[in-house]
Order: sequence, then structure tokens, then C-alpha cells
Amino acid sequence: MATISSSISADFSGENGYAEIDWDNIGFSLTPTDYMYKMKCSKDDEFTVIEANLIPYGNIELSPAAGVLNYGQGLFEGMKVIRREDGKLVLFRPEENALRMKIGAERMCMPSPSVDQFIDAVKQTALANKRWIPPPGKGSLYIRPLLLGTGPILGLSPALEYTFLIYASPVRNYFKEGSAALNLYVEDQFDRASRGGSGGVKSITNYAPVLKPMTKAKDRGFSDVLYLDSVSGKYIEEVSSCNIFIVKDKIISTPTINGTILPGVTRKTIINIACDHGFKVEERQIAVEELLEADEVFCTGTAVVVVPVGSITYQGKRVEYHTTDTNSVNKKLLSTFVAIQNGQVEDIHGWLVEI
Ligand code: COI
Repeated sequence: MATISSSISADFSGENGYAEIDWDNIGFSLTPTDYMYKMKCSKDDEFTVIEANLIPYGNIELSPAAGVLNYGQGLFEGMKVIRREDGKLVLFRPEENALRMKIGAERMCMPSPSVDQFIDAVKQTALANKRWIPPPGKGSLYIRPLLLGTGPILGLSPALEYTFLIYASPVRNYFKEGSAALNLYVEDQFDRASRGGSGGVKSITNYAPVLKPMTKAKDRGFSDVLYLDSVSGKYIEEVSSCNIFIVKDKIISTPTINGTILPGVTRKTIINIACDHGFKVEERQIAVEELLEADEVFCTGTAVVVVPVGSITYQGKRVEYHTTDTNSVNKKLLSTFVAIQNGQVEDIHGWLVEI
């Protein structure tokens, strides 16, 4: 077992300990930070760590025959570190991401770090890049853990060596719309996930196939694409980058996790918060026609947080929602979510992990 080096001390050279960037103008583009975490491991019965280190952020060397390059054997995660007004740096439910990576790794025939190894590595990466954690209220440090089959392999087979890599970037709003309502396009030609496929885990292979419909929709002025189930084409599933909820007569509904929908950590949290607020929440199949009758529609995700949907276009028909007023369900859920993270509402579920 190799030793894990955590001795790199971050360079807090900017004024007030912050990196010198325009904190008022960060979106969701990559800002390279100082360090990344790299753990190399072999595939055997145990998860055997060959080496694990914080190293300067930069390119990595890969065999052209790496499993991830040839056969897409890879997973990713997304999480955020928030700097609060009280000075605390907090992660949100990191064990959920660690467990999701474990489940995904099992599906993709990969060994995976333990929950403790995962969280320890995330904390090390965040602390080494502390000067890149935005000031309170100006965004967060997005943490991107990757688990990649990096061993060379020619025939189709699981790789024999894996790399668990974590990098970070300061981010703010995911969509160019900021926190304004999204205009979604319902896709009925391309599917995101199929029954028995990998749609329910955070495999890298789920994301390249949505680029075409998503890019086409964006070129037509839409914010993103909402996909339907691939069996009947009747039920809504998820958006390229996030989960979806509808609200009708104060009942909140979201598609059931059934193997084709990503079990989002924000999705799960919003369900918890809604139940705490006394809302009825249903996880069920949602027919695309129900969008026509909904009072509100909103999306959730680590990157997008909670964002209202202002319109949905399906087979040439556009339905509009007035979901941005402060009394709307999505705004109430968002404000509780943010208040818990910021320490203004008690964290009764123990979701916050201080680093
Ligand atoms: C996230 O929300 O963290 C994701 O991984 C979605 C990605 C498309 C940005």
C-alpha cells in the first residue's frame, strides 16, 4: 500500500488569500487551478493503491491503448465546495458521490476507492486549491472526480490498471441564462439512455451521445434538451445535464429512478427538503402530456443547482410556465437548499461536511 502524500501546502499568494481572477464574472468554464489528485490502482480482488498524490494541475500521460480511450471505461462525479460567510468550507453529502461512483464502477467493471478514500482525496484537492474557492456568494469550487481505465488493453476487456483523478475549477451559473428560467426542447428522435444500459450511472459514455441533440437545440435558441424513455417515447426522463421535476396543485413529481435516469444528489436532496416542508412528493412515470398541465417545471443538479423552466417545446407546441416568482415551489426549495449550505437553516440531516 503506497503512502498518500498530503504535504503539499497551497500557495495563498493573492490578496486576501484569493486567486487573482474576476470573481464577478465566472460561469461554468474551466479555470485551471493549482493541484489535482491522482491515485493509481490495480484491478484485483482488493482495490490496491499503487500510488496516490496531490500533484500540480496539468496534462496526464496515457497509453493510446488505455481502456478509457478505446472502450470508454470511465466514470465521473461532480460536487461543490462552498465558502461560507462564517469562514467555513463545506462539502455537501460527499458520501453520496462516493457511493454513486462505487455503484457505477461495479456496472463498468472497475475497482473503486472506498468512501473514506474518496472523501479524503476530495478534501485534499479542495484544500490544496483553497485560494480558488470563490468568496461567499460568488460561486463555488466545482470538484470533478474521475475514475478511468488507464491500463492498456486491445481486446474488449476491463483494463488492468485504473486512475482515480480529481481536479477542480471555480464556477458559478451553469447555464448562460444565469438563474433565469430555461427553455427546454423535448427530443423525440434521439434517446439519452436505454433499458439495461448505463443511463443510471455517471459513465462518461452517457454524455457524448447527447452532444448532437443538445447542440442542435442550443443552435435553435433552447437552453437544453429533455429526453423521453427509449421504450415507449411517452415518459419524460431527464435533461442532458440535470434531473427534472414538475409541480401540479402543490404535488411535486419527478421520474422514478429505474436504471435510465441518473440518481442526482440534488434531486434526492430536493425530495428530502420538499418532504420536510410538508409537500407531497411522487417518484413515478410522468407522461410527456403532463407538461402541458403543470403549474411549474424545474431542474436540479450539482452544476445547475435548482433552476426553473420557463417553457417547453414538444412536437412544435410550446407551453410556458410562470415559475420565477418568489412564492413558487422551486424558489422555496432552492432558498432552503442554499440556506442549509450557508448555515442559515439548521442542517438537521447532517448533510454538510466541513473540510
Ligand atoms: C453535475 O451536475 O455535476 C454534472 O456532472 C453534470 C454535467 C453535465 C456538468
